[in-house]
Amino acid sequence: MIMARPIIEPFKIKVVEPIKFTSINERETILTEAGYNLFQIKSEQVLIDLLTDSGTSAMSADQWAGIMQGDEAYAGSRSFYRLEERIKHLTGYRYIIPTHQGRAAEKILFSVLGGKGKSIPNNSHFDTTRANIEYSGAEALDFLGEVGKDPSAHHPFKGNMDIAALSQWLDQNAQNVPCCMLTITNNSGGGQPVSMENIRAVSQLCRSKNIPFFLDACRFAENAYFIKLREPEYANRSVESIAQEMFSYADGCTMSAKKDGLVNIGGFLALNDERLAASCRNVLIITEGFSTYGGLAGRDLEAIAQGLKEVVEEDYLHYRLIVTRYVHEKLTEQGIPLMNPPGGHAIYIDAKRFCDHIPPERFPGQAVACGLYLQDGIRTVEIGSLMFGKTPNGDFVPPPMELVRLAMPRRVYTQSHMDYVIESVIDLYQKRHSLRGFVIESEPPFLRHFTARLKPE
Ligand code: F0G
Repeated sequence: MIMARPIIEPFKIKVVEPIKFTSINERETILTEAGYNLFQIKSEQVLIDLLTDSGTSAMSADQWAGIMQGDEAYAGSRSFYRLEERIKHLTGYRYIIPTHQGRAAEKILFSVLGGKGKSIPNNSHFDTTRANIEYSGAEALDFLGEVGKDPSAHHPFKGNMDIAALSQWLDQNAQNVPCCMLTITNNSGGGQPVSMENIRAVSQLCRSKNIPFFLDACRFAENAYFIKLREPEYANRSVESIAQEMFSYADGCTMSAKKDGLVNIGGFLALNDERLAASCRNVLIITEGFSTYGGLAGRDLEAIAQGLKEVVEEDYLHYRLIVTRYVHEKLTEQGIPLMNPPGGHAIYIDAKRFCDHIPPERFPGQAVACGLYLQDGIRTVEIGSLMFGKTPNGDFVPPPMELVRLAMPRRVYTQSHMDYVIESVIDLYQKRHSLRGFVIESEPPFLRHFTARLKPE
């Protein structure tokens, strides 16, 4: 049901940043020069930037005030202790290791736990998680439930791990598993939440096999709010207490604070095991910085501490999820094939159906993403064969889904920006048969979607 009344953003705008308009001819040149890779385009050449919800949040007045309070001491910064207290309160974990962003926490964890011959399961590894695991020599495996692989299926918790498949696999392989992960919400699988029941089941399975269990907690608050809305026994619980319960089932987490930390940079690794924490701190000090700042300025630590408070506020989360639902409903009414139901941080176009004339090896998602940019200056990201369609030995194996993500920066765009986006997607859908696929001209060995150059086939 479409809401009859407009969305009320639960904030007033205190600072504004202009956005620039370009012509379609200018965008055509920009795209050609960028090798049809939207990561290679300057942000001032973009009108509405839905490339990511990571590091793109607008900070609150309280966060900016916190920035002025940052203690920049090399060791023992007051800002670190404030952040540590907040994270301990939220997660219950004993050891808090700040990092400059999520992948730094992953790099540290897997350089200690990873290595040749090891395997690390997850519902769906995000690309940096997979890359850090593979870079350590270990194998990254996905055990997403079947319903999560069908973009059109409606299910309240499509991020759930396939417990039966994981359990069966662990019966043979547990001895080579240094930890198990669960990504909440499941970004690569469409921003879909994981139920508390599933988190508990993964936890029990891991504990029965003595396998440490880590959450990839980037979007923990959105996941917790979905649990409140969709798992009846949590309907009257505060989001914070739901989050605390989620964390209590795991032994630690990696976190990119650039998402549900509501900041532009930052992350952390939090865990209970004392020896593992000591080893991780050693890597931190070599690669990130001393253990009370971990690659961040004291002011950044303050902003994260405050962001972690604001992100569990229900007015904020209500607005956050209603925006994605609004865009999703308007596009669905026009027959646009989308991932169902809407995720927390993004809308995902099902590019396999949007462009059913372009096969996976010609990157249908990239055709849609480039089409939206060329037509209206909207930047999105392909999450399909360009990002994931390759194994370490170089063979092309398409991933289960070809998606285009329209990620929503937090507290940045208003309903009128969203209405523009909705119109643009509808327009492109009407012209979809004119879209063409791509071939790769050059690509790097890892994370090719960031720098590969493409050309229309
Ligand atoms: N895990 C998940 C689920 C993520 O979505 C990301 C980042 C990371 C880990 C890594 O965190 O960027 O701070 O190093 N996702 C961004 C995105 C880049 O656009 O979805 P990071």
